[in-house]
Amino acid sequence: MGTLQTTFPAEIQAAIANYPPGRQASAVLRLLYLAQAAYGHLTPEAIDEVSGILHMDPTQVRGVAGFYTLFLEHPHGGYVVQYCNDLPCALRGADDFLPVVAEKLGCRPGETSADGLFTLECVMCLAACDHAPMMQVNLEYVLDLTPEKLDALVAEWRAKAAANPPRRPPFGFGPPSEMAAPHG
Ligand code: FES
Repeated sequence: MGTLQTTFPAEIQAAIANYPPGRQASAVLRLLYLAQAAYGHLTPEAIDEVSGILHMDPTQVRGVAGFYTLFLEHPHGGYVVQYCNDLPCALRGADDFLPVVAEKLGCRPGETSADGLFTLECVMCLAACDHAPMMQVNLEYVLDLTPEKLDALVAEWRAKAAANPPRRPPFGFGPPSEMAAPHG
């Protein structure tokens, strides 16, 4: 039995029970969230375990996981910073502001800071184009970024992390009782 099944047996059964017999594959998003919580990120073992439980081809499961930016296939920091530099945001200065974000966090896009606190990713539109530069941090939007606002936030996150290390994995999701319904 894999890490997912030993960590979240009741949650898996509850997720599958939401669907008619034979339609267990419909629970794939929920199980991927649980797998991410159990494994820390979606390792090949996590994908294989989800596939086995749901009787799906691993390629299908990998395809679902790859479609959604909230599923991570690599280790990440306690704060996952998803910065939008898609075209509408870029037209409002997102590209120019990206080096500021990277410098403040101590990591470039695709990297995790040396202290393990931040992972920075550039993502496509997050549907808040009119508030660029903007980013999503562990599911929370940060809008209308300025250097001062970013400074204050980073200081706040560092202070929080020093007092109480951010939960990981993943994305600030803690135990299942704290997990919201799956977000795409
Ligand atoms: S392009 Fe960045 S939020 Fe839409």
